[in-house]
Amino acid sequence: MGIKMIGIGKCLPERIITNDELAEYIDTTDEWIVERTGIHQRHVATTESSLDLAAAAAEEALEGIDKETIDLVIVATITPDHVTPSMAAEVKMKVGLPNAVAFDINAACSGFVYGLWIAESLMKGSAAEGSATNGMKRALVIGTERLSRVTNWIDRGTCILFGDGAGVAVLENDPGAKGILSTYIKNYDDVKDVIHCRANYVSPPFHEDDETPVPLYLNGRAVFKFAVNAMEEVTVGALEKIGKTLDDVDWFVPHQANGRIIHAAAHKMGQPLDKFQISIAKSANVSSATVPMALYDLQRSGKLKKGDIVACMGFGGGLCAAGAIIEW
Ligand code: UT7
Repeated sequence: MGIKMIGIGKCLPERIITNDELAEYIDTTDEWIVERTGIHQRHVATTESSLDLAAAAAEEALEGIDKETIDLVIVATITPDHVTPSMAAEVKMKVGLPNAVAFDINAACSGFVYGLWIAESLMKGSAAEGSATNGMKRALVIGTERLSRVTNWIDRGTCILFGDGAGVAVLENDPGAKGILSTYIKNYDDVKDVIHCRANYVSPPFHEDDETPVPLYLNGRAVFKFAVNAMEEVTVGALEKIGKTLDDVDWFVPHQANGRIIHAAAHKMGQPLDKFQISIAKSANVSSATVPMALYDLQRSGKLKKGDIVACMGFGGGLCAAGAIIEW
């Protein structure tokens, strides 16, 4: 019984902010940003909501698929439009998925891979076999973000990194397919608070300790080090479960946080860089959306062939990390 990917979609806001344009607001240069991150530009929403981005990507991913057959919608995001309703409930309604169960998850930049893990767990097996999986046949796993809403636009050390966008995968439970071969999920305590962002709540007059909202903060160097180690750990962890090694992987699709992180991870894992999908130049770091967007870019490039082994790798705030091995 396999959970395979039968559709994939991506949506970026129309407005592009180049490094040169950013340099009009903060003390930076295109050269510094490109050299330290590999980022040339990012897309930033001017009118689009997180829902608009997610729904447009979902419509593309669902092309040719009967919407009534979608049983599950999982949205991974750290920038939902609302606290309630969930993004997933809104996507279900906007796209028109009458039979879907819908909920959100927050696993920061690992969110999409966590979503694959949860969807797979809910889909594999079937109600008829007496499992607890409800026999879900098809699912949407979505990463959507408007990071521009939480970015500290006056901090040159972080605002250069982020963008907005959405990526979506449609999963199908197909007894004859291989699809998702294994997943490996890991959480580490963020004892030094290296990534955090306070929620934008009201301050009730009855609470003494509420803090004012603060935009996204990160300790870049600490995250960098964590990311390189975590990516290897979760990828090897997922591969070991199925008796495979890094050399068996045809394509690595990592979270796009910094081009140098991807280079360092490739080096640490002893893998050639041309096996890594690098999409960061044009769309920057879009947290939960980067892995499905990069997977989309790889698939649309025509390089991905049936039977290829793909390793999706996420890491981010929490701290968390996740790997998923997929036979395409
Ligand atoms: O999804 C997970 C999210 N987090 C990440 O992905 C972050 C991972 N970390 C990184 O990507 C890198 O650490 C950064 C790109 C954030 C920073 O690169 P770095 O090589 O670690 O630079 P740094 O923070 O150590 O700063 C070096 C210098 C500093 O100047 P001084 O103190 O040496 O004079 C900074 O003030 O570079 C300066 N600097 C900048 N200069 C021009 C920092 N940001 C900029 C900037 N333009 N945008």
